Amino acid sequence: MKSILLGLVGVLLMGCQQNPPSNNTTNESNIDQKVEELLSKMTLEEKIGQMNQYSGFMDFTGPQPDKGRAANKLEHIKNGLVGSMLNVHGVENVRAVQKIAVEESRLGIPLIFGFDVIHGYKTISPIPLAEAASWDLEAMKRSAEIAAEEASAAGINWTFAPMVDISRDARWGRVMEGAGEDPYLGSQIAKARVNGFQGDDLSATHTVAATAKHFAAYGFAEAGREYNTVDIGTSTLYNVVFPPFRASIEADVKTFMSAFNVLNGIPATGDEFLLRDILKDKWDFNGFVVTDWDSAGEMVAHGFVKDGRAAAKQAVIAGSDMDMESYHYIEELKALVEDGEVEEKLIDDSVRRILKVKFELGLFEDPYKYCSEEREKETLYNAKFREGVRDMAKKSIVLLKNKNELLPLKSSGQRIAVIGALANDKTSPLGSWRIGADEETAVTVLEGLEKYDQNTYSYSKGADVVTGETSFTQELNINTTDKSGFAEAVSTAKSAHVVIMVLGEHGLQSGEGRSRTRIDLPGVQQELLEEVYKVNKNIVLVLQNGRPLALPWADEHIPAIVEAWQLGTESGNAIAEVLYGDYNPSGKLPMSFPRHVGQVPIYYNQKSTGRPFLPSPGEVFWSHYTDEKNSPLYPFGYGLSYTTFDLKDLTVENTYADDGTVTVSVSLTNTGKRKGKSTVQLYIRDEYASVTRPVRELKSFEQAELEAGESRKITFQLTDKDLGFYDNNGEFIVEEGSFQVFVGEDSQAQLSGEFQL
Ligand code: BGC
Repeated sequence: MKSILLGLVGVLLMGCQQNPPSNNTTNESNIDQKVEELLSKMTLEEKIGQMNQYSGFMDFTGPQPDKGRAANKLEHIKNGLVGSMLNVHGVENVRAVQKIAVEESRLGIPLIFGFDVIHGYKTISPIPLAEAASWDLEAMKRSAEIAAEEASAAGINWTFAPMVDISRDARWGRVMEGAGEDPYLGSQIAKARVNGFQGDDLSATHTVAATAKHFAAYGFAEAGREYNTVDIGTSTLYNVVFPPFRASIEADVKTFMSAFNVLNGIPATGDEFLLRDILKDKWDFNGFVVTDWDSAGEMVAHGFVKDGRAAAKQAVIAGSDMDMESYHYIEELKALVEDGEVEEKLIDDSVRRILKVKFELGLFEDPYKYCSEEREKETLYNAKFREGVRDMAKKSIVLLKNKNELLPLKSSGQRIAVIGALANDKTSPLGSWRIGADEETAVTVLEGLEKYDQNTYSYSKGADVVTGETSFTQELNINTTDKSGFAEAVSTAKSAHVVIMVLGEHGLQSGEGRSRTRIDLPGVQQELLEEVYKVNKNIVLVLQNGRPLALPWADEHIPAIVEAWQLGTESGNAIAEVLYGDYNPSGKLPMSFPRHVGQVPIYYNQKSTGRPFLPSPGEVFWSHYTDEKNSPLYPFGYGLSYTTFDLKDLTVENTYADDGTVTVSVSLTNTGKRKGKSTVQLYIRDEYASVTRPVRELKSFEQAELEAGESRKITFQLTDKDLGFYDNNGEFIVEEGSFQVFVGEDSQAQLSGEFQL
């Protein structure tokens, strides 16, 4: 596919000018007026054209469209029938396509180029779920800045990120792309990422417009099966799903993407309640909404509308401004307006929104502003990005277990066995959703370790995780039954002082279309782990995965477990730094890790049942499983360090009646022998409310780096926004009554206090 566009580009580039004839001059202050002026010159067809987005010919990030339609795309641009392209990237390609829009279409309106820059363009950061484990908002913002700077140098000016869908279901492959299960943490991260992508000045060449997606509730797909129906209650919608979207608007996100799923029987792309009543009216969002890939057309398969015409009508009435790859807007909207079924003022509203973002990006001043070959050359893979993604990567690692201080590793005189296909894989650590990246560009664990050259390393694969070709759009071959490498792995392990086993999921085993029913170690890796354990118990298990896994056997037997996700380009270097103690691990889980997949969805901020406790020994009539505990294996917020911390002296000062605040403070002490970073988390429980509240809710957190022996007072202030909630009419209310407060290093924190409102 790639060659088709590049061929065209070659032809188009001949005679290409750097700067277009500009009847499109603008200055920022008069954007609304300029939008009106332009709108008044547009035909109905040209307006609808602005609402039409096509995928280019380079990458497909959804089902491939039929070829006949695809062939007309460049012609459509020339005729002013396209407002945006996705999946066209690289300066040469972007310039060629932009040139058609600007120089050959009647009004010369520039295209906006969208791309899924989810966790980096060429230099890859950790997958978003891993980044969320850092709880480090500055580092995440920096990571998004890096992604924006690199992608914008390749012609892109709009990213389809951040995904702010809250999810509680590890079976869902796209948990890798979000910030986990918690609406508070998710909201803080949404803001940090939007700020990182968009910067202070959207018209600068190193920033891109961001997208809050997928609106709404996509993360609640039933049974974790991709694209499945969503059926959640009003309270969850308002209090769990909406907050990160709302936070994105606070950060001035320029676009929203609608979701694939049905919510309460209505496909999100055609849902007036979601897009118009909530998003555009109640929240006053003034950017634009793009549909997800063919999600307008998919309303037919959902059984909501009978054909493409009805789909276009429903989507535009609901508030979807731009149609991604369904073709129904461009094919049907004109007739719908002419037949009086869709009011032209709806079209005008959408076009205004779209043009406004184009003006804000500065595209009318210079449509080729992201198209400097020179800048592209010096920016892609620039060494300065590596430091940022490495910093992000080490902060994302979570130490799950460290018995007898097996970690950090001794830095000399050790024979170390390194086992597992993932230890030597240069592609898998890039994770899913990094379609701009080049294969084989990650530093492996083995390469990272070998830099610590006072120890000796012997590597043995043991077993494959997947076999054959791996591709973002194709099913992986996960039928790995081959145990022929076990014997060598066992013998390598036998004589080692320490065995580092790098096991988990392939980087493309999570992401879109990658739901799993089993969330254990895929293939024969569990057996490999047990075989190696028989000969050497000094195992450090380094996990690479894109979702929480259920690993009770490992937790019971393996002395040290390190959650290293898929950490991107600098993966192996970051892991080695943590294993050797050059970075003291500080990550905290952003999602609960279950004991068994049967507990899923499992999340800390659950509601209490009417029978939460065992009434008397042996009785069965309480909320529990007969074959497993209720609690997760590792709770939300959990993660160890090479040092230890103590929290004490919790005090609550309640001056709510006077100034609307409740102040909670604790004393934090580093009680271990090393400098380390603690993430002190504050949870509340509103004991009685007119709509029941979760047993715990994260409301604040603070990271503190302390020298060994050092103490610090940590103070939190709670106000209405922390103490209230949305009722079932979507109104935010604060109710009087008793609250408990818990402060600690994870969601099971025991140190507690209470106050009354
Ligand atoms: C995904 C979106 C993505 C879009 C464009 C869809 O399949 O759900 O998140 O932005 O493709 O690539």
